[in-house]
Amino acid sequence: MKILIINGPNLNLLGLREPEIYGKQNYSALCALIKQTCESLGIDYEIYQSNHEGAIVDKIQDAYSVFDGIVINPAAYTHTSVAILDALKAVAIPTVEVHISDINSRDEFRKHSYISLAAIKTFMGMGFDGYRAAIEYLVGELA
Ligand code: DQA
Repeated sequence: MKILIINGPNLNLLGLREPEIYGKQNYSALCALIKQTCESLGIDYEIYQSNHEGAIVDKIQDAYSVFDGIVINPAAYTHTSVAILDALKAVAIPTVEVHISDINSRDEFRKHSYISLAAIKTFMGMGFDGYRAAIEYLVGELA
């Protein structure tokens, strides 16, 4: 089993970026948690981060017939990107959405997620642990 973990814009700035919302741990720490989670489950994985919508669309298209599942934190594109939604629907790879913060208890514009329309489940408001929950859930669904 091979899963793709996609992180959208500004998540490379974790630690620096609004630590009162996203925590003090940096992006390397998040990647280490993902690595440890996937290794403990015995699955192959790739982590991808981009600040560019089209690059994320390309990565999702390239995942077709390569990856069995996707975990995605589309970051700000969550609330704007029909293109990422359409790419996920096109490849039809089981996808779990994750957000570090609780997007339902923040700004009004964060309450809507285009990506939820293609995701089998969404985890939010759990900090970095949401990634562990998302990966475990996805692997459970794919098993
Ligand atoms: C986020 C929430 C989004 O609203 C925001 O634009 C992000 C991160 C989260 O992980 O909580 O960049 O996806």
